[in-house]
Amino acid sequence: MTPIDPAAFREFEHTAWQEIASRYHDGFAAVTTHSISALLDAAQVKQGTRLLDVACGPGYAAAAAAARGASVSGVDFSSEMVEEARGRYPGIEFQEGDAEQLSVSDSRFDAVVLNFGMLHLGRPEQAVREAYRVLRPGGRMAFTVWDTPDKAMGFQIVLSAIQKYGDLNVPIPPGPPFFRFSDPEESKRVLSAAGFSQIAVTYVPQTWRLPSPDALFEVMYNGSVRNAALIRAQKPDVIEAIRREMHSAVLKYGNELAMPAVLTSGQR
Ligand SMILES: C[S@@+](CC[C@H](N)C(=O)[O-])C[C@H]1O[C@@H](n2cnc3c(N)ncnc32)[C@H](O)[C@@H]1O
Repeated sequence: MTPIDPAAFREFEHTAWQEIASRYHDGFAAVTTHSISALLDAAQVKQGTRLLDVACGPGYAAAAAAARGASVSGVDFSSEMVEEARGRYPGIEFQEGDAEQLSVSDSRFDAVVLNFGMLHLGRPEQAVREAYRVLRPGGRMAFTVWDTPDKAMGFQIVLSAIQKYGDLNVPIPPGPPFFRFSDPEESKRVLSAAGFSQIAVTYVPQTWRLPSPDALFEVMYNGSVRNAALIRAQKPDVIEAIRREMHSAVLKYGNELAMPAVLTSGQR
Protein backbone atom coordinates (compact mmCIF):
# COMPACT_ATOMS: atom_id res chain seq x y z
CA MET A 1 0.00 0.00 0.00
CA THR A 2 1.31 3.49 -0.89
CA PRO A 3 2.13 5.44 2.29
CA ILE A 4 -0.12 8.41 3.03
CA ASP A 5 1.44 11.86 3.01
CA PRO A 6 -1.13 13.80 5.09
CA ALA A 7 0.19 17.19 3.93
CA ALA A 8 -0.08 16.25 0.24
CA PHE A 9 -3.53 14.77 0.79
CA ARG A 10 -4.66 17.89 2.64
CA GLU A 11 -3.44 20.09 -0.22
CA PHE A 12 -5.25 17.89 -2.74
CA GLU A 13 -8.50 18.12 -0.74
CA HIS A 14 -8.10 21.85 -0.08
CA THR A 15 -7.56 22.71 -3.75
CA ALA A 16 -10.64 20.69 -4.67
CA TRP A 17 -12.91 22.22 -2.02
CA GLN A 18 -11.90 25.73 -3.00
CA GLU A 19 -13.07 24.88 -6.51
CA ILE A 20 -16.22 22.93 -5.56
CA ALA A 21 -17.59 25.30 -2.88
CA SER A 22 -19.96 27.30 -5.07
CA ARG A 23 -21.37 24.13 -6.70
CA TYR A 24 -21.74 22.08 -3.54
CA HIS A 25 -25.25 23.23 -2.68
CA ASP A 26 -26.63 21.96 -6.00
CA GLY A 27 -24.70 18.69 -5.74
CA PHE A 28 -23.95 16.53 -2.73
CA ALA A 29 -25.81 18.81 -0.34
CA ALA A 30 -29.02 17.29 -1.72
CA VAL A 31 -28.11 14.23 0.37
CA THR A 32 -25.71 15.34 3.09
CA THR A 33 -28.41 17.50 4.66
CA HIS A 34 -30.71 14.48 5.26
CA SER A 35 -28.81 13.17 8.25
CA ILE A 36 -28.42 16.46 10.12
CA SER A 37 -31.37 15.99 12.43
CA ALA A 38 -30.12 12.53 13.50
CA LEU A 39 -26.58 13.92 13.84
CA LEU A 40 -27.72 16.72 16.16
CA ASP A 41 -29.84 14.28 18.17
CA ALA A 42 -26.80 12.01 18.62
CA ALA A 43 -24.80 15.01 19.86
CA GLN A 44 -27.75 15.92 22.15
CA VAL A 45 -28.00 19.43 20.70
CA LYS A 46 -30.76 21.50 22.23
CA GLN A 47 -31.51 25.03 23.44
CA GLY A 48 -28.32 26.52 24.85
CA THR A 49 -25.90 23.80 23.64
CA ARG A 50 -22.52 25.29 22.67
CA LEU A 51 -21.88 23.54 19.36
CA LEU A 52 -18.91 23.49 16.99
CA ASP A 53 -19.68 22.37 13.42
CA VAL A 54 -16.34 21.13 12.04
CA ALA A 55 -15.76 20.86 8.26
CA CYS A 56 -19.01 22.81 8.18
CA GLY A 57 -19.11 23.43 4.41
CA PRO A 58 -22.01 25.80 3.66
CA GLY A 59 -23.09 25.56 7.31
CA TYR A 60 -26.18 23.37 7.18
CA ALA A 61 -25.61 21.53 10.47
CA ALA A 62 -24.68 24.79 12.22
CA ALA A 63 -27.89 26.42 10.96
CA ALA A 64 -30.05 23.48 12.03
CA ALA A 65 -28.45 23.59 15.48
CA ALA A 66 -29.05 27.35 15.72
CA ALA A 67 -32.70 26.69 14.87
CA ARG A 68 -32.79 24.43 17.97
CA GLY A 69 -31.56 27.35 20.06
CA ALA A 70 -27.94 26.20 20.24
CA SER A 71 -25.05 28.65 20.42
CA VAL A 72 -23.15 27.79 17.28
CA SER A 73 -19.81 28.25 15.50
CA GLY A 74 -18.67 26.66 12.26
CA VAL A 75 -15.16 25.98 10.99
CA ASP A 76 -13.91 24.83 7.58
CA PHE A 77 -10.46 24.89 5.98
CA SER A 78 -11.79 26.23 2.68
CA SER A 79 -12.12 30.02 2.58
CA GLU A 80 -14.59 29.61 -0.30
CA MET A 81 -16.77 27.32 1.83
CA VAL A 82 -16.61 29.75 4.73
CA GLU A 83 -17.81 32.50 2.37
CA GLU A 84 -20.68 30.25 1.24
CA ALA A 85 -21.65 29.63 4.86
CA ARG A 86 -21.43 33.31 5.84
CA GLY A 87 -23.54 34.30 2.83
CA ARG A 88 -26.15 31.66 3.56
CA TYR A 89 -26.36 32.13 7.35
CA PRO A 90 -25.16 35.66 8.22
CA GLY A 91 -26.22 35.34 11.86
CA ILE A 92 -23.80 32.49 12.58
CA GLU A 93 -20.05 32.76 13.18
CA PHE A 94 -18.03 30.83 10.60
CA GLN A 95 -14.25 30.76 10.53
CA GLU A 96 -11.46 29.28 8.47
CA GLY A 97 -9.69 26.55 10.37
CA ASP A 98 -8.41 23.01 10.30
CA ALA A 99 -10.28 20.08 11.83
CA GLU A 100 -6.92 18.59 12.80
CA GLN A 101 -5.71 21.72 14.60
CA LEU A 102 -8.60 23.76 15.97
CA SER A 103 -7.92 27.32 17.14
CA VAL A 104 -10.21 26.79 20.10
CA SER A 105 -9.48 26.64 23.81
CA ASP A 106 -9.89 23.39 25.76
CA SER A 107 -13.34 22.30 27.03
CA ARG A 108 -15.06 25.17 25.19
CA PHE A 109 -18.00 23.23 23.63
CA ASP A 110 -20.84 20.92 24.71
CA ALA A 111 -21.01 19.28 21.28
CA VAL A 112 -18.83 18.85 18.18
CA VAL A 113 -20.24 17.51 14.91
CA LEU A 114 -18.74 16.63 11.53
CA ASN A 115 -21.31 15.99 8.82
CA PHE A 116 -19.50 14.00 6.09
CA GLY A 117 -16.20 15.61 7.05
CA MET A 118 -14.21 12.68 8.48
CA LEU A 119 -13.71 10.95 5.13
CA HIS A 120 -11.92 14.04 3.78
CA LEU A 121 -9.25 14.19 6.46
CA GLY A 122 -5.69 12.98 6.09
CA ARG A 123 -5.34 12.53 9.86
CA PRO A 124 -8.84 11.72 11.15
CA GLU A 125 -7.51 10.40 14.49
CA GLN A 126 -6.01 13.82 15.10
CA ALA A 127 -9.40 15.47 14.38
CA VAL A 128 -11.05 13.11 16.88
CA ARG A 129 -8.43 14.04 19.50
CA GLU A 130 -9.06 17.72 18.76
CA ALA A 131 -12.83 17.24 19.16
CA TYR A 132 -12.15 15.56 22.51
CA ARG A 133 -9.90 18.42 23.61
CA VAL A 134 -12.41 21.18 22.83
CA LEU A 135 -15.33 19.32 24.46
CA ARG A 136 -16.14 19.79 28.11
CA PRO A 137 -16.23 16.59 30.19
CA GLY A 138 -19.59 15.00 29.38
CA GLY A 139 -19.77 16.78 25.99
CA ARG A 140 -20.58 14.79 22.87
CA MET A 141 -19.03 14.29 19.46
CA ALA A 142 -21.03 12.94 16.50
CA PHE A 143 -20.09 12.41 12.86
CA THR A 144 -21.59 10.96 9.70
CA VAL A 145 -19.93 9.19 6.77
CA TRP A 146 -21.33 7.32 3.78
CA ASP A 147 -22.26 3.68 4.12
CA THR A 148 -20.31 1.20 1.97
CA PRO A 149 -20.92 1.04 -1.81
CA ASP A 150 -22.97 -2.16 -1.56
CA LYS A 151 -25.57 0.01 0.22
CA ALA A 152 -24.79 3.56 -0.95
CA MET A 153 -25.77 3.13 -4.57
CA GLY A 154 -24.29 6.38 -5.89
CA PHE A 155 -20.84 5.08 -4.96
CA GLN A 156 -21.54 1.58 -6.23
CA ILE A 157 -22.50 3.04 -9.63
CA VAL A 158 -19.52 5.36 -10.03
CA LEU A 159 -16.92 2.89 -8.74
CA SER A 160 -18.30 0.03 -10.87
CA ALA A 161 -18.26 2.26 -13.96
CA ILE A 162 -14.65 3.34 -13.35
CA GLN A 163 -13.63 -0.26 -12.67
CA LYS A 164 -15.35 -1.47 -15.84
CA TYR A 165 -13.89 1.09 -18.26
CA GLY A 166 -11.02 2.82 -16.52
CA ASP A 167 -8.20 2.41 -14.07
CA LEU A 168 -8.72 2.75 -10.31
CA ASN A 169 -4.96 2.99 -9.76
CA VAL A 170 -4.30 6.44 -11.16
CA PRO A 171 -1.79 8.66 -9.36
CA ILE A 172 -3.80 10.77 -6.94
CA PRO A 173 -2.44 11.61 -3.47
CA PRO A 174 -3.42 8.62 -1.33
CA GLY A 175 -5.58 9.27 1.70
CA PRO A 176 -7.11 7.07 4.39
CA PRO A 177 -9.61 4.56 2.93
CA PHE A 178 -12.75 6.46 1.87
CA PHE A 179 -15.07 3.98 3.64
CA ARG A 180 -12.89 3.51 6.73
CA PHE A 181 -15.44 4.96 9.17
CA SER A 182 -18.34 3.09 7.55
CA ASP A 183 -17.02 0.21 9.67
CA PRO A 184 -18.54 0.57 13.17
CA GLU A 185 -15.66 -1.34 14.78
CA GLU A 186 -13.08 1.04 13.30
CA SER A 187 -15.05 4.10 14.44
CA LYS A 188 -15.43 2.65 17.94
CA ARG A 189 -11.70 1.86 18.06
CA VAL A 190 -10.66 5.39 17.03
CA LEU A 191 -13.09 7.18 19.36
CA SER A 192 -12.22 4.90 22.23
CA ALA A 193 -8.46 5.47 21.69
CA ALA A 194 -9.08 9.24 21.94
CA GLY A 195 -10.83 8.75 25.30
CA PHE A 196 -14.50 8.78 24.29
CA SER A 197 -17.01 6.53 26.06
CA GLN A 198 -20.66 5.58 25.42
CA ILE A 199 -19.81 5.15 21.74
CA ALA A 200 -22.76 4.30 19.51
CA VAL A 201 -23.02 3.66 15.78
CA THR A 202 -26.35 3.81 13.94
CA TYR A 203 -27.47 3.91 10.30
CA VAL A 204 -29.44 6.77 8.78
CA PRO A 205 -31.49 5.88 5.70
CA GLN A 206 -31.19 8.55 3.02
CA THR A 207 -32.46 8.77 -0.55
CA TRP A 208 -30.77 10.78 -3.30
CA ARG A 209 -33.44 12.08 -5.69
CA LEU A 210 -31.54 12.80 -8.90
CA PRO A 211 -33.06 15.43 -11.19
CA SER A 212 -31.86 13.60 -14.34
CA PRO A 213 -30.04 10.38 -15.34
CA ASP A 214 -26.87 12.41 -15.97
CA ALA A 215 -26.93 14.14 -12.60
CA LEU A 216 -24.96 11.42 -10.79
CA PHE A 217 -22.04 11.68 -13.22
CA GLU A 218 -22.20 15.50 -13.12
CA VAL A 219 -22.06 15.61 -9.30
CA MET A 220 -19.27 13.01 -9.08
CA TYR A 221 -17.28 14.77 -11.83
CA ASN A 222 -17.83 18.37 -10.72
CA GLY A 223 -18.71 18.16 -7.05
CA SER A 224 -16.62 15.43 -5.43
CA VAL A 225 -12.93 15.15 -4.59
CA ARG A 226 -11.48 11.65 -4.88
CA ASN A 227 -14.07 10.29 -7.33
CA ALA A 228 -13.72 13.40 -9.51
CA ALA A 229 -9.94 12.99 -9.52
CA LEU A 230 -10.31 9.29 -10.40
CA ILE A 231 -12.60 10.09 -13.35
CA ARG A 232 -10.63 13.12 -14.57
CA ALA A 233 -7.42 11.06 -14.66
CA GLN A 234 -8.90 8.73 -17.31
CA LYS A 235 -8.59 9.19 -21.09
CA PRO A 236 -11.40 11.21 -22.78
CA ASP A 237 -13.01 8.16 -24.44
CA VAL A 238 -12.94 6.33 -21.08
CA ILE A 239 -14.57 9.30 -19.34
CA GLU A 240 -17.33 9.24 -21.96
CA ALA A 241 -17.82 5.48 -21.45
CA ILE A 242 -18.03 6.01 -17.67
CA ARG A 243 -20.59 8.78 -18.18
CA ARG A 244 -22.75 6.53 -20.42
CA GLU A 245 -22.45 3.60 -18.02
CA MET A 246 -23.55 5.76 -15.08
CA HIS A 247 -26.45 7.18 -17.10
CA SER A 248 -27.65 3.62 -17.91
CA ALA A 249 -27.24 2.51 -14.30
CA VAL A 250 -29.36 5.39 -13.02
CA LEU A 251 -32.04 4.50 -15.58
CA LYS A 252 -31.84 0.89 -14.38
CA TYR A 253 -31.92 1.56 -10.63
CA GLY A 254 -34.27 4.55 -10.86
CA ASN A 255 -33.41 8.14 -10.02
CA GLU A 256 -34.03 7.64 -6.30
CA LEU A 257 -30.82 6.08 -5.00
CA ALA A 258 -30.31 4.70 -1.51
CA MET A 259 -27.41 6.64 0.08
CA PRO A 260 -27.45 5.65 3.76
CA ALA A 261 -25.15 7.31 6.27
CA VAL A 262 -23.31 5.75 9.20
CA LEU A 263 -23.60 7.92 12.30
CA THR A 264 -21.10 7.56 15.15
CA SER A 265 -21.24 9.38 18.47
CA GLY A 266 -19.40 9.34 21.74
CA GLN A 267 -19.09 11.19 25.02
CA ARG A 268 -16.06 12.85 26.53
C1 LIG B 1 -18.54 16.76 2.11
S1 LIG B 1 -18.26 18.41 2.65
C2 LIG B 1 -19.37 18.46 4.03
C3 LIG B 1 -19.92 19.84 4.24
C4 LIG B 1 -21.00 19.97 5.28
N1 LIG B 1 -20.53 19.53 6.59
C5 LIG B 1 -22.29 19.27 4.93
O1 LIG B 1 -22.99 18.91 5.86
O2 LIG B 1 -22.66 19.14 3.77
C6 LIG B 1 -16.67 18.28 3.42
C7 LIG B 1 -16.17 19.59 3.98
O3 LIG B 1 -14.99 19.31 4.72
C8 LIG B 1 -14.12 20.41 4.58
N2 LIG B 1 -12.79 19.93 5.00
C9 LIG B 1 -12.03 18.96 4.43
N3 LIG B 1 -10.90 18.80 5.12
C10 LIG B 1 -10.91 19.68 6.14
C11 LIG B 1 -10.00 19.98 7.21
N4 LIG B 1 -8.84 19.35 7.33
N5 LIG B 1 -10.37 20.93 8.09
C12 LIG B 1 -11.54 21.60 7.97
N6 LIG B 1 -12.42 21.37 6.98
C13 LIG B 1 -12.11 20.41 6.07
C14 LIG B 1 -14.27 20.79 3.13
O4 LIG B 1 -13.80 22.09 2.85
C15 LIG B 1 -15.77 20.64 2.94
O5 LIG B 1 -16.44 21.85 3.19
